[in-house]
Amino acid sequence: CGDRIGLTPPMGWNSWNCFAGEVSADKVKRAADALVKSGLVNHGWTYINIDDFWQNHRDSKDQTLRGKLRDDSGRIVPNARFGDMKPLADYVHDLGLKIGIYSSPGPWTCGGCAGSYGYEKQDAESYAKWGFDYLKYDWCSYGGVINGMPDNDPYKVGSLSYQGGGDLPTAVKPFKIMGDFLRDQPRDIIYSLCQYGMSDVWKWGGSVGGTSWRTTNDITDTWVSVKNIALDQDKAAAWAKPGNWNDPDMLVVGTVGWGNPHPSRLKPDEQYLHISLWSLFSSPLLIGCDMEKLDDFTLNLLTNDEVIAINQDPLGRQATCVYTDGDLRVYVKELEDGSRVAGFCNFGLEKVSLSFRNFAKLGISGRQKVRDLWRQKDVVTLEDGQSELSLNIPVHGVLLYKFTSSNK
Ligand code: DGJ
Repeated sequence: CGDRIGLTPPMGWNSWNCFAGEVSADKVKRAADALVKSGLVNHGWTYINIDDFWQNHRDSKDQTLRGKLRDDSGRIVPNARFGDMKPLADYVHDLGLKIGIYSSPGPWTCGGCAGSYGYEKQDAESYAKWGFDYLKYDWCSYGGVINGMPDNDPYKVGSLSYQGGGDLPTAVKPFKIMGDFLRDQPRDIIYSLCQYGMSDVWKWGGSVGGTSWRTTNDITDTWVSVKNIALDQDKAAAWAKPGNWNDPDMLVVGTVGWGNPHPSRLKPDEQYLHISLWSLFSSPLLIGCDMEKLDDFTLNLLTNDEVIAINQDPLGRQATCVYTDGDLRVYVKELEDGSRVAGFCNFGLEKVSLSFRNFAKLGISGRQKVRDLWRQKDVVTLEDGQSELSLNIPVHGVLLYKFTSSNK
């Protein structure tokens, strides 16, 4: 049943941040192989997602077509770097993984490849027939559709040839159209809306069948980008729940950057903060790096089961910031077992050292066992009403502590 998928945030890899327009079937297979060989597969990482550029495109300068977009019956044609998609999906499935694909509701994707406008039904059918488990659905060129919509456009509400929908606002409509066709398919397909948070997508993304929706513009591997995105997530927190996730974009760890591959420019402590927050936020966890260039640090970062368990907690709550003191911000997430996780985050340029006593602000009372999740060690047991917690948080770093009631 389509309502019961994505009950915990999807975890996997996406091709965009390392391969962009150079993605190919071979690179996708190699990423899948690496996900298995590195052992990431044993920690919940599952989806191998192809982003833009598996389709044919038009040249960005002279607009000439570089290949056939669709066949005579309107079925989309993969480009020469992919060929038949079914064997690729089979290959990924045979590794025990799942596979994702990408499109856009406009006539063109952001990269100028064939989009799904007017062909949503055929495209949903193709994805299902090939064996895809996940669709990322972008926005690009749909704005042009809206602006240039002539009165007789089939997408005008009320038109007979309008494919699905109803009288939802214009921004919602293209996502509902594709969502309905996806749900008609005889397989479960995670539906990831890439709508950059426009029109408060978190308020309606679930109603069009969305499993997740982007809440931001594209992330980059810089502290400023991660910080700005992180500080902007509370707005959508109340709408996160099993099957419906806010997506603050991909994980900028490891070797990223198409054309200019480089290690993430985030410092190690910034990467701990990034992964901690995306876990507290119940975000989809999509690795954006070259999987064949995983270094030990990145691998350790992505295989800490106690941290991943926070992201995958079945209650599906999204942490919010419950306490601020200068550059210290404390994000708290409730877990299914009644415990709470606090991310003590230092967004400033000075180390933060303090004795923390304000447990009521974190919703924590009574005797508590405190565990450091990154170090996988118990830190202390707080006695009821009389304890303080000594915190030393590095610049742009985090302490990720789980608080569990502990009766004597
Ligand atoms: C914009 C999205 O935000 C990116 O993640 C990527 O999907 C590109 N479009 C592809 O063109």
